[in-house]
Amino acid sequence: MFITFEGIEGAGKSTMMALLANHMRQTGDTPVMTREPGGSRLGKRLRAMLLDCRQEGLSCRAELCLFLADRAQHIAEVILPALEAGQSVFCDRFVDSTLAYQGYGRGMNIEELKSVNEAAVGPLMPGLTFLLDLPVQEGLGRAGERNRIEGTVISEGRFDSESLDFHERVRKGYLELAKMNPERIVVVNADRPPEEVFVDCVKTLDNALKKDRC
Ligand code: TYD
Repeated sequence: MFITFEGIEGAGKSTMMALLANHMRQTGDTPVMTREPGGSRLGKRLRAMLLDCRQEGLSCRAELCLFLADRAQHIAEVILPALEAGQSVFCDRFVDSTLAYQGYGRGMNIEELKSVNEAAVGPLMPGLTFLLDLPVQEGLGRAGERNRIEGTVISEGRFDSESLDFHERVRKGYLELAKMNPERIVVVNADRPPEEVFVDCVKTLDNALKKDRC
């Protein structure tokens, strides 16, 4: 099954992915863990260009094309081969990030974005998407602290340094996307300790896996 994790910076996606993957391993299923941007070899180079604060003057459309190139290569090199081999895939960010950030955040046309996403992705869509939702100030606080500890404030901080308004639009956009896709996107309150968020996520995951196996 193909499962994606979405949310603003600092929502706790990677922590939740790790906890859920651990849970799945106990049942004998080892998911492939990957992320966008940066899940493929080409993607790692694109990630550096996309997230580095020193990458000045990147236009919205150029930024979009780099995210789409990252996605197309990621699907070809990592996601499809894993799914075809019968493995589950956990992906940190996917098409909804483009709609939330380039669409609601940067103000690009949502319908246009859906169609270019489709051009990059083809018919593949996640069977389940966790949207980890929390207030922007809280998320940015956590992300800032993480980047400081990891020494990535400059090399990975281009989106983190966007305005509060930008991140508020992204958060609202995500919640709208969830309303429009209730069969796929599950909103989880991430403004809680990880153990509590995990309890909610694991129930959703187990139900989805059961349905997928039927
Ligand atoms: P990353 O460090 O992976 O995110 P996080 O801080 O949540 O762990 O950074 C990826 C950034 O790229 C994030 O700010 C969202 C942005 N992004 C887009 O704007 N569009 C996209 O299509 C994708 C995949 C990511």
